[in-house]
Parts: sequence; structure tokens; C-alpha cells
Amino acid sequence: MNRPLSSSDPGALLAAVLAANETTPDPRLRQVMAAGIRHLHAFALEVDLTPAELQVGLDFLVEVGKATGAERNEGILLADILGLATLVQLRSARHSVEAGGTEPALVGPFWRAHQPLRSNGATISSDTTPGPRLEVRGRVVDLDGTPVPGARVETWQASPKGMYENQDPEQEDMNLRARFETDADGRFSFVSVRPAGYPVPTDGPCGRLLAAQGRKVMRPAHLHFIVLADGFKCLATQFFDVDDPHAYEDVVFGAVGSLLRKFEPDGHGGYRLDVDLKLEPGEARLPHCPLP
Ligand code: BEZ
Ligand code: FE
Repeated sequence: MNRPLSSSDPGALLAAVLAANETTPDPRLRQVMAAGIRHLHAFALEVDLTPAELQVGLDFLVEVGKATGAERNEGILLADILGLATLVQLRSARHSVEAGGTEPALVGPFWRAHQPLRSNGATISSDTTPGPRLEVRGRVVDLDGTPVPGARVETWQASPKGMYENQDPEQEDMNLRARFETDADGRFSFVSVRPAGYPVPTDGPCGRLLAAQGRKVMRPAHLHFIVLADGFKCLATQFFDVDDPHAYEDVVFGAVGSLLRKFEPDGHGGYRLDVDLKLEPGEARLPHCPLP
């Protein structure tokens, strides 16, 4: 039998809410909701949450929802700046990483569907994007180091000014974006310009939260990759410039140690980046693409 509710016994209230949840037919939803309820009650008790503070929090969530649409997603950004998105992604890839697979990183909000297919060695930056040359050479391999030919490799990056092409009227459509196919030796390569770091969007509720926390808002310079090959789990990751001033303070906590790379000077004012992308066997499924 349930204990009677009383203001001096928060445990009875928690027990009643958990009992109400027990009628949830879906077992996973029941489990997730029970854990969520327990943690929310513990959180409110720990900080002695006031009714006014609860209202501020609920108003914030409403604002996050209102600021979310096809072109912008403050909900994803909230999970990102709280480190929740990175936690969930790293946790779901832990077996692959323990076996030697490349660590994943967030897809983020800037990947576009239908990035142009280019041949290996192609230049992906237009003349209107000046900056130091960056030559990228990559290899897609399995956990034993055997090359994976015919893999689809998507890449996208910000410009040397720290802007993606869809944010910047000065860049051509699909600039600094491409899709490649690995050759018989699992290799792909392209020529680009060195990206710069950039701030996450700060003109919405998440930006206000970051300001209230006195937090830095930058992501260190990086290149995104998504690799898709038959018989392997899809890998979404990023390689970060270890020399970026924000290399160790990524606002979305995606710049894990194994993904920090030296962009090596080529002796002519440009840079080289060599990357290995190690895939785990499994079902190939592309993640949700945030932009058309
Ligand atoms: C990105 O890597 O493009 C990104 C990820 C999370 C928030 C904002 C941008
Ligand atoms: Fe990015």
C-alpha cells in the first residue's frame, strides 16, 4: 500500500510517482521514465528548488522549443552544451573504441544532404575563400587495419573566418563540403583551406544560459567526417586542430584527446593532415541529416 503523502516525507511522493509510472506498457520507456523521475526529485531536493526557480526552468524549455525549427535546433544545442550529446555518443561507441575504432564526435547542425561527389585529390575550397592551404589524406580501415575500398566519406568544415558556407553570403553554395569514395587501398584525399574555430549560436536561450554561466562559447577548429561502408557501423567524427587556442575548452565537449591532431606545416606556408578512420563491423546506417 502507498504511504500517505505529506510535506515532511518527500520519499512518499517519489514512491507515488514511481508507482504511477509502473503502468507504462513499453518496458524501456518505463525504465527511462523511472530513472528520470528519481533523478529529477533528487535534484530538486539537493538544490531545494523554489517554485519561482521551477518556473524559470519551464519557461526556458518553452523558449528552447520556440527557437527550434528546420534551420535551427536549440534543443540539440542544449544537449550539446550540457555535454549530454557527447556522453551518449561516446557511451554508445565504447565497444568499438575499446576494440581500437576511431572515437566518434557530434554530427552537429551543419552537415548538408547532397554534398557534391568529388574525385580524390580535388580542391574543395573556392577561390573566394582565401586562407592557408590544407592537404588532407585519409584512409578508411577495419579494426584489423585492412583497407575498406568503396567507402562513402563525407566531409565539411568552416572557413578560415570560422563560418560554414550556409552561414556566410560570401561563400559559394556547397563550398568546403564534399563526398568522396575510397580507392582500392581505402584512401581518399583532398585540398582545402585551414579551418578556424567558431562560436556556437549565442542569440537564443542556450546563448543566454552560456552567458549566465560565464562560459566560453567557442569550438576549436575542426573538420567533420562521416564514413559509410557496407558491413560497418557508420562513423561520424571530427578531427580538431591541437594548436587552436580553444583545443581544450570545446563548448560542446566533443574534442576528446584522440581526435586532437597537429596540422603539420608543409614548408610552403600550408599544412597537411593525415587521418585514419577505423570502422567497427555492424549495420551501416546514416545519421539524421540536419540541413537540406
Ligand atoms: C559542429 O560541430 O558543427 C557543431 C556541433 C555542436 C554545436 C554547434 C556546432
Ligand atoms: Fe563543426
